Amino acid sequence: MKIGVLISGSGTNLQAIIDSITQGIIKKSTIEVVVSNVKSAYGLERAKQAGIKAIYINSKEYNSREEYDKKIVEILKENGVELIILAGYLKWITPYFVNQYKNKILNIHPSLLPSFKGLHAIEKAYEYGVKMTGVTVHFVDESEDGGAIILQEGIRLDEGISLEKLEEQIHKVEHKLYPKAIEKFVTGKIKLEGRKVIVEK
Ligand code: GRF
Repeated sequence: MKIGVLISGSGTNLQAIIDSITQGIIKKSTIEVVVSNVKSAYGLERAKQAGIKAIYINSKEYNSREEYDKKIVEILKENGVELIILAGYLKWITPYFVNQYKNKILNIHPSLLPSFKGLHAIEKAYEYGVKMTGVTVHFVDESEDGGAIILQEGIRLDEGISLEKLEEQIHKVEHKLYPKAIEKFVTGKIKLEGRKVIVEK
């Protein structure tokens, strides 16, 4: 399956996906293009190093969020993209974009949704004092981090754990869980029944 990845930052999840394709954990798939809304995003470097087309699009050059998303969708379609992976993409995607790729856009979020939506989720959960948090991979719809949940993995907080250590643990889980969800998607093992997602073994 042809994959397009959208990023804004360091791209460690992108790297985990690139590695999973190379190692055959995600089969019969290629990343056709990586798009960033941030020029300095290190993920663009990671893409180039892997021989993947890496494109920066400056949102300031577009009059509205929809105009900007039209450009992104145009790039994705030109590259034959069938599955879109948001990997630390810090831009709100418009209903236009969602409708162009209905149930074909995935996101990863560093909490057990629906708790701690939005930015700084790890810190918010930590400051709240939860004893358990985790990682969620979900479909993207028009709501904020509210699409149907595909996979979740919980992490129990060790007593007195530092925020830095927790972040490390979360990212480690992300780098396994996202490739796993993508592999399930590309092999047709994910079925959507209303809000419920059935993931076959
Ligand atoms: C991850 O924690 C992901 O859950 C969140 O943004 C972060 C991206 O990190 N959506 P990276 O750019 O993949 O390193």
